[in-house]
Amino acid sequence: MAPLVWLVTGASAGIGAALVGEIVRRGDKVIAANRQVEQMADRASENVSLLELDLTSGPKLIASKVKEAWGIFGHIDVLVNNAGNFAFAPFEDTSGDVADRLFQTNLFGHLEVTRAILPFFREQGSGCITFTSSSQVWGNMPYTSIYSMAKSAISSFAESLHKEVSSLGIRCVAFEVGGVATRIFEPRQKDQTEGQNTTSGPSEAYAPGMAGVSNAMAQWGAPPGDVVKTAKAMVDVVTGEGKAAGKVWSSRIVLGSDAVAWARLKQQQASLVTDRWEDVSVGTDRDDAVVSDALHPYVLMPGAQ
Ligand SMILES: NC(=O)c1ccc[n+]([C@@H]2O[C@H](COP(=O)([O-])OP(=O)(O)OC[C@H]3O[C@@H](n4cnc5c(N)ncnc54)[C@H](OP(=O)(O)O)[C@@H]3O)[C@@H](O)[C@H]2O)c1
Ligand SMILES: *[C@@H]1O[C@H](CO)[C@@H](O)[C@H](O)[C@H]1NC(C)=O
Ligand SMILES: *[C@@H]1O[C@H](CO)[C@@H](O)[C@H](O)[C@H]1NC(C)=O
Repeated sequence: MAPLVWLVTGASAGIGAALVGEIVRRGDKVIAANRQVEQMADRASENVSLLELDLTSGPKLIASKVKEAWGIFGHIDVLVNNAGNFAFAPFEDTSGDVADRLFQTNLFGHLEVTRAILPFFREQGSGCITFTSSSQVWGNMPYTSIYSMAKSAISSFAESLHKEVSSLGIRCVAFEVGGVATRIFEPRQKDQTEGQNTTSGPSEAYAPGMAGVSNAMAQWGAPPGDVVKTAKAMVDVVTGEGKAAGKVWSSRIVLGSDAVAWARLKQQQASLVTDRWEDVSVGTDRDDAVVSDALHPYVLMPGAQ
């Protein structure tokens, strides 16, 4: 197989850096993108090209960066929308500005990169787009509302977009990753938000609730995910190798046994709640309603056929 060309955002650290390593190890080529490329200068090589790309820089600049990226190796096969930031804070303590910034990095920036690459992928007749989502889409834990919202949106997007572009040769997948020990949970000066400001702490009313979650997290212990194995699994899914060989493409894949447990729990509970409320739920139909399943093919989850 000819080497693939990958564009990975958020490539300076954590899962993104592990992806770059794994991609090169397999003999592929990668454009490693980050908002400050100086910190990755030592990682450039024959098969690793660096690209400065800040997901908060707006649609125009992002589109020109994607065009530039396309020119580096002459084309791109796989776009990995991976960059992201975390926030642990009560919603009420999170200002609109802070929420906007998090949405820009975790959601809107990825939409811009994706929008910019789609015409290239369509013209090429092939392409793969991945998103690094989170097990939070199944967890919806408190004090992570903004983060969970952005990740839920990106998982939802991957599924709808896949249905729009799969007939054009383009595949999409959101990886709903469980806990992996990276520096994402460490408050960083440049992304310091009121919510993460440990000196000010949460509003008094939320302090006991947050302490409860913090204690549970301490009890939970080290996140079970291995960063290298996570990156390997993502690459395997895209290339159809390893344990992913022979599987039907799915647009949402959980990674990590903690993520599997949360997904199962949520699915069981959603089913239970749907059953419990069914009489109320179906009671809102018009008296003469005829319920059709004509839309079901569009509602179905890719990979479940
Ligand atoms: N670790 C987990 O447990 C976990 C679980 C589920 C999902 N995820 C997701 O995995 C992805 C990677 O996170 P990680 O755990 O590997 O964390 P990480 O080590 O903190 O890496 C995050 C990456 O995103 C980059 N980034 C942040 N803001 C950016 C911006 N505005 N523009 C461009 N790049 C930006 C960072 O660059 P800088 O070097 O400039 O900061 C860094 O390269 C994220 O989307 C995260 O939400 C992580
Ligand atoms: C770059 O990739 C090619 C295959 O595409 C490989 O032959 C070469 O050894 C790689 N170079 C480095 C420095 O890894
Ligand atoms: C964090 O909170 C402290 C105390 O309220 C304040 O002095 C400081 O400016 C805050 N830092 C940031 C980055 O918001």
